[in-house]
Amino acid sequence: MIDDITAAKDAALAEVERADSLDAIVALEPRLLGKKGSLGSLKAQLGSLSSVDDKKVAGQALNEATQAVESALSARRDSLGDAALAALVAHERLDLTESAGRPTRGHAHLVTQAWERLEDVFIGLGFQVAEGPEVETDWHNFEALNMGEGHPARGEFDTLFVDYAPPGGTAGRTVLRTHTSPVQIRTMLTAEPPIYIVAPGRVFRRDTPDATHMPVFHQIEGLVVDRHITLADLAGTIEAFTKAFFGPGFTSRLRPSYFPFTEPSAEFDIQRPDGSWLELGGCGMVHPNVLRAGGIDPDEWSGFAFGFGIDRMAVMRHQVADLRDMYADDLRFAEQF
Ligand code: PHE
Repeated sequence: MIDDITAAKDAALAEVERADSLDAIVALEPRLLGKKGSLGSLKAQLGSLSSVDDKKVAGQALNEATQAVESALSARRDSLGDAALAALVAHERLDLTESAGRPTRGHAHLVTQAWERLEDVFIGLGFQVAEGPEVETDWHNFEALNMGEGHPARGEFDTLFVDYAPPGGTAGRTVLRTHTSPVQIRTMLTAEPPIYIVAPGRVFRRDTPDATHMPVFHQIEGLVVDRHITLADLAGTIEAFTKAFFGPGFTSRLRPSYFPFTEPSAEFDIQRPDGSWLELGGCGMVHPNVLRAGGIDPDEWSGFAFGFGIDRMAVMRHQVADLRDMYADDLRFAEQF
């Protein structure tokens, strides 16, 4: 009988060893340790042994065999459980170090950088930032700026018309704003003087893209309306801006020019430290008709305005050879700045 017990124990231990899942262990347990299992049926045979000594020896051997199987089952259950948990953890693991080292960080586009620096400089000079819509009425874009219907200056703007009527506008007399100057009108109509604002934004003209022109580009407008504002205030503001934005080695000048919405009007240029001059934008004293269109009494208030291209500033600052590169969405270009 001892041999039978040893054989049954060895068979049971081998089965435990072969079990390869927690489910298999659960199914195995009653079979190996239950009354109908091989050890269980040997136990039932104990009673048929005649010698008390034989019974004692066989009983002890059976107990030992049962304990060996029990502890083998529990050891196997533990190790399969650990493996199952490890597999679950591995499966649900999130690898947060995949990009190996620091994730690469993006940065603002060249034009956005220039736009934000311009805002910073003008805020430093005491200006507030204003904005207006990109789809404008003919009235805000032209009429209120002293360019009535048929005014020859309208021809210079290569206007894009839209077949849509915004609030207060008329279909066919609605435009993609050709400059940021309509923000002058919108600001005067909503704010009381004194007014000190800059208005950066997107503008549109029907141009074929080339190295120096894009049909969509950016301008920044400036408007000051206060008491006793003179051309000297305009020149001083342009000069303060030039030094703050470009550096102390730069200076500025005004050259007589013409815009329907300013009188007198000027172009302003900046001089680089190497002595060369660069044309930057237009400016002038706000025309009385424009103040009136904005609901402001020109006998009580006066002001100046200026406007220039943001894209050109970015191009100059970084020596970009072709304006189109700035809008080609090529990361190899954008990443250089
Ligand atoms: N709006 C003018 C342009 O786009 C620039 C300008 C702004 C001129 C304000 C004078 C005053 O060319």
